[in-house]
Amino acid sequence: MNAPKKNLNVLILGGGGREHAMAYKAAQSPQLGQLFVAPGNAGTAQLATNLALNPEDPAAVEAAVRQHGINLVIVGPEAPLVAGLADHLGRQFPDGSVGVVGPVAAGARLEGSKDFAKAFMAKYGIPTAQYRSFQAHQLDEALAYVANHPLPIVVKADGLAAGKGVVIAHDVATAQAALQGMLSGHDFGAAGQTVVVEQFLPGIEISVFIATDGQSYTLLPMAKDYKRQLDGDQGPITGGMGAVSPVPFATRDLRTRIREQVIRPTLAGLRAEGIDYKGFIFFGLMVVDEQPYLLEYNCRMGDPETEVVLPRIETDFLELMQRIAHGGVRDLELSLRAETCATVICASGGYPGPITKGYPITGLDATHDTPHSLVFHAGTALKDNQVVTAGGRVLAVSAFGKDVVEATTRAAQRAEAVQFEGRFFRRDIGLDLLRFQPEAE
Ligand code: GLY
Repeated sequence: MNAPKKNLNVLILGGGGREHAMAYKAAQSPQLGQLFVAPGNAGTAQLATNLALNPEDPAAVEAAVRQHGINLVIVGPEAPLVAGLADHLGRQFPDGSVGVVGPVAAGARLEGSKDFAKAFMAKYGIPTAQYRSFQAHQLDEALAYVANHPLPIVVKADGLAAGKGVVIAHDVATAQAALQGMLSGHDFGAAGQTVVVEQFLPGIEISVFIATDGQSYTLLPMAKDYKRQLDGDQGPITGGMGAVSPVPFATRDLRTRIREQVIRPTLAGLRAEGIDYKGFIFFGLMVVDEQPYLLEYNCRMGDPETEVVLPRIETDFLELMQRIAHGGVRDLELSLRAETCATVICASGGYPGPITKGYPITGLDATHDTPHSLVFHAGTALKDNQVVTAGGRVLAVSAFGKDVVEATTRAAQRAEAVQFEGRFFRRDIGLDLLRFQPEAE
């Protein structure tokens, strides 16, 4: 590995709670020179210089890297990676002077194509739900397949669909409507013109993250996210209404199975395919009778999981990022904060449906903080020096506690102090986990 720089100029791409949490950790690093976030939000503007550029435009990112002397680019969301941003920067800076945290497009395909991911899992013996893929010209075959398949059944658009491309159908009509919408191109354009239809696995979900330099990896704290809009896991599926880490049912035995049955074969498979993967891998797992089944890969960190995972990592964040980009992850022992961290999302009224933006947000100033809370901005913007809402998920309010009850209660108390028109949040994040006996990570 190159000698660590003490004046790293860092560019974080993205503008949500995940990227604010990354900026928060980067800003604590003694290695940081200047910090830029593109496009960022009102929260990142307090820690970094926000750049008004589109992360999916490789030429614009390259220009910013040159203009600001960036040494390290950390890519938050998946779309720039699937579109080949890491490949572009690798070609433009072949001497390795610009490290990139995020895989090349061939690696990002694990998220960019559900069909590719399922074939990869099958090829490398990774436990997953049984499935079949269909293309647009196979609509009749797909309709007949779901009519004869036990319910529920899961229909997934192959490509990126902004988190909306998965339908869990409890009846044949819903499955067939999803197939028609996707395969016709009506619902998700080209992203839906191949679909994966898979067996529904009943169990409990867990989000598992690794950081890898392509040769070795380190396991990051595991998390559980809460996708339903309302308390009690009611309401529509959202991008995530909260998260908690650690996850008490992730016992030592389960963690060993995840490493041996999921993580190792994935990394071996990537190497066998000749893919030099440098970045995060997010394994979306379903645990069924204490066995892990891989539902999906993501080529990035989760959101809102990052807002509980990163605060728990005490190791210098930029040291970890440098080692992902340049090698040496194997030799870095992560130091973790043992307490529980919970985050609750303050969302705009109507989310995940249509929302109104531009409402002023109050209660953000530090006088409302407690020593245990952190407020990460997600969908916020600055308008006339006032922080206003700018998205469905507006803030991720994280807090530490000795257990999940204390962490979630503190996060909800801090969230209560934040006000904007239509704001709502869940108060039960993590409380379903009380039935499990915690085991040290
Ligand atoms: N929280 C799920 C995701 O980031 O995709």
